[in-house]
Amino acid sequence: MSYDTIIANGKLISDTKTTQADIAIKGEKIAAIGKGLAKKHKGVPTIDAKGRYVIPGGIDVHVHLALPFCGTVSADDYDSGTRAAAAGGVTTVIDFAIPYGEESLQQAVDNWMKRAADKACVDYTFHCAITNWARHGPQIKDIFRQGIPTYKQFMIYESQGWQSDDAAIYAALRELKDLGGLLLIHAESSRVLDFLINQNHTPELMRKYGAYLHTMTRPNFIEAEAIERVIHWTRVTKGRSFIVHMSTGEGADLIKNAQDDGVDILAETCAQYLVLDDEKFKGEDGHLFATCPQLKRPTDQKRLWQGIKRGEVCNVSTDTCTFTRTQKAMWNGDWTKIPMGMPGLETLMPIVYTHGVLKNRLSIHDYVNRLCTAPAKIMGLFPRKGVLKVGSDADITVFHPTRKTKVDYKTMQTNCDWSPFQGWNLAGFAEHTFCRGRQVIDNYKFVGKNGYGRFIPRDHVGTA
Ligand code: URP
Ligand code: ZN
Ligand code: ZN
Repeated sequence: MSYDTIIANGKLISDTKTTQADIAIKGEKIAAIGKGLAKKHKGVPTIDAKGRYVIPGGIDVHVHLALPFCGTVSADDYDSGTRAAAAGGVTTVIDFAIPYGEESLQQAVDNWMKRAADKACVDYTFHCAITNWARHGPQIKDIFRQGIPTYKQFMIYESQGWQSDDAAIYAALRELKDLGGLLLIHAESSRVLDFLINQNHTPELMRKYGAYLHTMTRPNFIEAEAIERVIHWTRVTKGRSFIVHMSTGEGADLIKNAQDDGVDILAETCAQYLVLDDEKFKGEDGHLFATCPQLKRPTDQKRLWQGIKRGEVCNVSTDTCTFTRTQKAMWNGDWTKIPMGMPGLETLMPIVYTHGVLKNRLSIHDYVNRLCTAPAKIMGLFPRKGVLKVGSDADITVFHPTRKTKVDYKTMQTNCDWSPFQGWNLAGFAEHTFCRGRQVIDNYKFVGKNGYGRFIPRDHVGTA
C-alpha cells in the first residue's frame, strides 16, 4: 500500500498513553500507525516530527462565526475563523445554528450551511438553537435525522428573542431524552440579572465604574442558580444536559455533586475563564473583555482547573464570538450595549497547553482528552474524530512541546484587531495541522483551502 504522507518520529499522544511511532495518511484517513513506516516507504512525502507531539486535531465544540448579535455581526467568519482554528491546532468546530424571528430550525440550519460551505478550511458541524419551544419543538425530529443530535437553549437574551423558560427547558429535555440527543444550556438567571442591571443602570454609576459594572451586576449566584435549575429539570426528566461556558467555582461544585448523585449533566468551560479575571474590566480597554457570562475571579479559575483534571468539567472550548475595537466601541460608556464575546479559536490549545500542561495542572493525556477525545465522544464525532487510530479521519496536529511564540493579533489569522492574550508567550501553536488528510498548516504557515472543510453529520451523542 502506498501512502500520501507520513508523519515520522513523533510522540503520538492519546488520552491515556504516549507511543513513539510513525503515522501514515492515505486520502482522508489514517491508514497506518507503526514504527519504521517512513523507512519502509521512502518515496512518500514525509514530515519529520522528531521531538514533537503528534495529537488528534482539537475540537472546539462552542464557536460563533459570523453571528448576528448585539446589533452587529461577529467579525470572524468561516474563512478567518477556520484559518484561526487550524493555526491553533483545531480541526473541527461546532457552531450554533440559531433561528431569528419566526424562522424554523430548518431555516437556521440552511443559513448556517450557506455561511460555512464555500469558506470553511476545517470541518464543522452545528448545534441547533431552540428559541421558541411551541414552534421548534415539533421540528427537532426532522433536524435530528439530518445529523444534528445536539440542541441549545439560552436562559437569557430575552431582547434577542432567544430566551427559553423552565417549561421549554423541561420539554426539550424530555423530547431529547426520547430521541437520544443532548441539550446544551446557557445558564444565567435572567430575572435577578435584569433586576441588578436596572438597579445599576444610572449615568453616575456608569461614569464611576464603566465596564466593571458588567461584573458588579453578575455575581456568581447568577450562574449558580441557573445551573441548579438545569440540574433539577435534568434530574426529574432523567434527561441529559450540558452547561456551556461554565465560569464559576460554584458551578463546578454543583455539577460534581449532581454527577455524584447520578444526574446526567455535563459542563464545559472556556479558555478565557481559566486564565483571565474580572480585573480586566477596570482598564481602559475593559469593555473589550465583556462576554456572557463574564470573566470571574482567580478562585473560580482554580476550581475550574481542578474540575478539568477530575472530570466534572469535561472539555474546554472558546465561545469564540469576535468583535473588533470598532464594534466594541458601540458601547459608548454603557456596558449593557457592549457586543458580548471575544476571539479565541487560535489560542485555545496554546492557552490550555501552556497554562495547563506546562504548569503541571494537567498531564499531556488530560490535555488530549479534554481538547480532542472527550469533546469528540460527547458530541458524537468519535471515533471518526478525536483519536489517532487507523480508519479515523486524518485530523492531526503536530506541535513543539516547549517552543513559545508571542501572541500578536497582527500576525494571526483572526480578523480581530486586538487579542485578550496580546503579548503572552505561549507554546502549543500548531507546526503542522492536517484536516481529513489535507495539510492546512505547514511549518506554522497557512496552506489550507476555503471550501475544503465539510459539514460532519452526527447520529448519536456519547459520554466522556
Ligand atoms: O458573550 C458571548 N458568550 N457571546 C456569544 C453568545 C453566547 O452567549 O454564547
Ligand atoms: Zn451563551
Ligand atoms: Zn456561545
